[in-house]
Amino acid sequence: MNGPESDDVLYGHLPPSNRKTAGAPPDTSPALRANRYRDAWCGQVLGDRVDSEARVAGWVHRRRDHGGLIFIDLRDRTGLVQLVFHPDSSGDAFELAHGLRAEDVLTAAGTVVRRSAETVNPELPTGEVELKVAGAELLAGAETPPFQIEGFSGEAGEDARLRHRYLDLRREPMRQALVLRHRVTAAMREFLDGEGFLDVETPVLTRSTPEGARDFLVPSRLQRGSFYALPQSPQLFKQLLMVAGFERYYQVARCFRDESTRADRQAEFTQLDIEMSFVGVDDVIEVNERLLAHVFERAGGPAIELPMQRLSYDEAMDRFGTDRPDLRFGLELVDLGDALRGTEFKVFRSVLESGGAVRGLNAGRREMPRSELDGLISRAQELGAKGLVWAFREGEGWRSPTAKFLSDEELGDLNRRLGAEEGDLLLLVADQRRVTDAILGQLRVDLAERFGLIPGDEHRLAWIVDWPLMEWNADERRWDSLHHPFTAPVGEFDPDNPGEARALAYDVVWNGQELGGGSIRINRADVQQAVFGALGIDAEQAEARFGFLLEALRYGAPPHGGIAYGIDRVVQRLCGAETIRDVIAFPKTASGFDLLTGAPAPVEEVQLKDLGISVHQRRLAGH
Ligand code: AMO
Ligand code: AMP
Repeated sequence: MNGPESDDVLYGHLPPSNRKTAGAPPDTSPALRANRYRDAWCGQVLGDRVDSEARVAGWVHRRRDHGGLIFIDLRDRTGLVQLVFHPDSSGDAFELAHGLRAEDVLTAAGTVVRRSAETVNPELPTGEVELKVAGAELLAGAETPPFQIEGFSGEAGEDARLRHRYLDLRREPMRQALVLRHRVTAAMREFLDGEGFLDVETPVLTRSTPEGARDFLVPSRLQRGSFYALPQSPQLFKQLLMVAGFERYYQVARCFRDESTRADRQAEFTQLDIEMSFVGVDDVIEVNERLLAHVFERAGGPAIELPMQRLSYDEAMDRFGTDRPDLRFGLELVDLGDALRGTEFKVFRSVLESGGAVRGLNAGRREMPRSELDGLISRAQELGAKGLVWAFREGEGWRSPTAKFLSDEELGDLNRRLGAEEGDLLLLVADQRRVTDAILGQLRVDLAERFGLIPGDEHRLAWIVDWPLMEWNADERRWDSLHHPFTAPVGEFDPDNPGEARALAYDVVWNGQELGGGSIRINRADVQQAVFGALGIDAEQAEARFGFLLEALRYGAPPHGGIAYGIDRVVQRLCGAETIRDVIAFPKTASGFDLLTGAPAPVEEVQLKDLGISVHQRRLAGH
């Protein structure tokens, strides 16, 4: 950096609310040492250079022929400058300019001249001047790109963009996203360095870390039949670094989880991973709030008010049906079981009798034709509901196909609990609590988007705290960790009542998306063993998979805890991108393909033979 701090122009792609106040254009240009290709950056050929000589280099962005003159917009990382080729003054370069095509690579030298008033381009920082070319050299030709770089607004298919990512990355929004990503990681490092955290690398070829996804395995040639696992996170290594006495660790770490890609998920993604010793929940949260405020400030994100709001897990589930609530709007969930204890309506009664819940939300005064209400029912079913009751408050009762099954008293009580006023749309789901929450939690977000209830310029960051340690997995008939098995319980752990245990865990949520999560860890081998036991990992399995951790915990492990953030998600949110793919230089498709290199790909028979592996079925590479 050799200029003023980042600002408005750099983050021009951000929603206005994310931008800081307008200031001088930022300068993200690398330092320049003149050489045979250039002595100036395209974006810096400004008014103050008029009448001086300049040499620039870059890509042909656009070419226009105008009555004997040829205009070329030349592009490098810093911006565009207009070159003018004149048949009289440009010599051989004029012939060259005739044949130039988009994306050819060029160096050109000449005199910087002021444009006439009517040809000034106010859109361009360099729009008041142009370079009157005296000589130019073609450094490399370009074939016609499969999609336009200039003026590109997303019309090319994503497959084409990924296949030719190096061309896609020439586009301004992509360049800005990666500059922003750099700013974010630089700010993280800057802050953590200032707080005494040490950046330590941990292995990529290692053993499985249970973060709840499938492992990517790497076969070993030297130990035939054995496999490394790529880390789902550096979790166990950072704990070992605390046992080793490092006190404060961080790493920008690549993590690997063999799960299907979504808008906010990649099989290979990047965490900011942090761990600290001799700390409790409040200590970790305190440092991390300042970290987030620093990063947002440096990256032009919204200002964060400290201390951040905290919400218990139970409150989040009760009010929003999710552990990552979007707090920018209402439509909160309401429990309606108490109004329906003695109901004759068999759908509700049977669910309540079997220990389930009836929950609902008030979507406010709405008009909605039958077809759209049917659409809501289908959406609820798609999300796993057996049904959805809809109703509009009308007088003291409901206009709803379900109204006839409920008594006047019940309808009145439901209206009261839901705070329903005349004409309000009410939606109710009866099922096991987990299901009602998942469905209503998602419908709440769907409806808020549909009714425009989400204020675009508001940002809500919150900590979700006070988690249960484990939840019952009914399908597998076992207890699962809500975070991971190394999370410390609050107080003594009672192996006979794992469902009662609370966890010293915390997640940070921004506008309905989980940015990061962590916990205080177990630092005693006996407690760790008891927790493994409750999770159905017996002593033998625990020894085989995590013996090294249990052993380390017996050699004096300090109380410790930490957190990890999804950097891709932080950057995606900061630049308002649709998917995390747009903030990753070389991402993979939904089915895990790297379209640029063609990975994954079949390998030579001899390679498999070396590894002692035979493949039974191999699907032909495709996607
Ligand atoms: P966790 O599994 O919650 O915690 O991951 C931390 C953060 O990483 C991001 N993340 C992802 N981003 C993109 N693609 C994915 N597939 C993906 N999976 C997770 C999320 C998430 O909040 N070791 C613990 C942290 C700790 O306890 O310190 C861990 O990995 O933003
Ligand atoms: P049924 O008795 O299945 O015809 O359902 C009567 C009404 O209750 C229909 O409008 C269903 O959509 C609705 N319904 C059925 N099951 C549920 C459920 N679990 N939660 C909410 N509504 C339901």
